Amino acid sequence: MSAPDGSRTGPNTSDGSFARSGSGTSATAPTAAEIAAARAALAKALRVVVLTGAGISAESGVPTFRGAGGLWQQFKPEELATPIAFGRDPRLVWEWYGWRRETIGKCRPNAAHLALARWMLGRAGVTLVSQNVDDLHERAAREVAGDAERARRAAPIRLHGSLFHDRCTRCTHRAEGGAVDATSLETVPHCPECGGLLRPDVVWFGEMLPVRAVEAAFSAAAEAEACLVIGTTGAVYPAAGVAHAAKAGGATVLIVDPGPTELDALADFRLFGAAGDVVPQILG
Ligand code: OAD
Repeated sequence: MSAPDGSRTGPNTSDGSFARSGSGTSATAPTAAEIAAARAALAKALRVVVLTGAGISAESGVPTFRGAGGLWQQFKPEELATPIAFGRDPRLVWEWYGWRRETIGKCRPNAAHLALARWMLGRAGVTLVSQNVDDLHERAAREVAGDAERARRAAPIRLHGSLFHDRCTRCTHRAEGGAVDATSLETVPHCPECGGLLRPDVVWFGEMLPVRAVEAAFSAAAEAEACLVIGTTGAVYPAAGVAHAAKAGGATVLIVDPGPTELDALADFRLFGAAGDVVPQILG
């Protein structure tokens, strides 16, 4: 249950050979037969664990972390996404998170988020585990379900927290956050209860993941008959371990991603393509 700093940087550092097991044989769009087989594998599984990463939100306009145009090519994680960075310059870190809150807050769930929410609301036995902090799964669930109570059935286990929530660095206060004024140290968010400095409620490099979320994710993985992985390089642990745990427990593993991932060797079905295109087809 170590922090995501156990990650190896650069997703495509493996052999880049596109080697895989299962029905996919090349990095081309899946055939109708491959889609049908993947769909059947998911439909017959009583318990399914779904692991999502930044790629599922790419078509919503949310930047991914690695690869061309990824956030970690433009910004240094150690200057912005670590407790040390926040201790050194909270204003700078809040400026970055305020910018992400504002830009990502304008993004909308795409066809993949919506298909997944619809699928989860229409059947039992699916656990969604997400590394994303963009809240787009939650928003898709609300959009599809129509009411907040029902939407909870399609809510993800959030392994890395939420960009739209704050927590206090001094007391136990945690709440939804708003717009950020990062003009000065005085204007950045402060705790309404104790006056302490608030921070974004996300997991930074070097930090532990929320224990209950990790336990719930791994227990769902161990029981799953199928594991659907969407849009993650699988470079960051423990999140990527969810797919390994599912495979070790005998689950059929399906991976949807247009590029190579570090989990490809686990795949029984390797479906190359954009989530917004492939996910609705295999869940529809
Ligand atoms: P990455 O940026 O590492 O990987 C994004 C993945 O999405 C890649 O495999 C892309 O090929 C794929 N992708 C791109 N466009 C896609 C599309 N339209 N449909 C489907 N897939 C697409 O993001 P993650 O693996 O999610 O952690 O990164 C894991 C963690 O690293 C993040 O949660 C974050 C980061 O450091 C923390 O902030 C704690």
